[in-house]
Amino acid sequence: KRVAILISGRGSNMSALIDAAKDRAYPAEIVLVVSNRPDAGGLQRATENGIATAVVDHKTYGKNREGFEQALQSVLEQHHIDIVCLAGFMRLLTSWFVSRWTGRMLNIHPALLPAFKGLDTHRRAIEARAEHHGATVHFVVPEMDSGPTIAQGTVPVLPDDTEDDLAKRVLAIEHRIYPLALKLVAAGRVRVEGDHCVIDGDIS
Ligand code: GRF
Repeated sequence: KRVAILISGRGSNMSALIDAAKDRAYPAEIVLVVSNRPDAGGLQRATENGIATAVVDHKTYGKNREGFEQALQSVLEQHHIDIVCLAGFMRLLTSWFVSRWTGRMLNIHPALLPAFKGLDTHRRAIEARAEHHGATVHFVVPEMDSGPTIAQGTVPVLPDDTEDDLAKRVLAIEHRIYPLALKLVAAGRVRVEGDHCVIDGDIS
């Protein structure tokens, strides 16, 4: 399967996916990285890995969300993309775009969904005195940070954790579950049944 990763920033999850896909047995190839920000750090890392990059700058489109998404869609079509992975992509997508990628677009969110949708998840987990926190890879649906969960990873929240400590611990888990989730989806082993996913076969 041909995979595009959409980023807005440093792209550490993107890097984890690129590294995992280097394995010849991995069922997906990362063929494109798209950023909505020309200065996203991840773009350089993608280029270093011989992966095509594109910038679709939302600022060029002003309030014209449709124009932005049409440009995004046409880049993805040009590269014959099968699966889209959002990895720190900080734009909300409309149902026009999302519906084109139903069951073929994944996102990673730094919390144990449905807890802590939206931003500042680590701070909110500490404030809520959560015992556990973590990350979720899910299929994207029009409603933000919703959609069937493919994989979750948990970490403990420790008594003296700063937001940064917790973010680091969660990020390490993100880098493990995202490659796993993409592998399962690309291999056709994830079936969506209503609001949840069923995995065929052994998870390894
Ligand atoms: C990650 O924490 C991801 O879960 C969230 O944004 C952050 C992106 O980090 N959606 P990176 O760009 O992958 O390093």
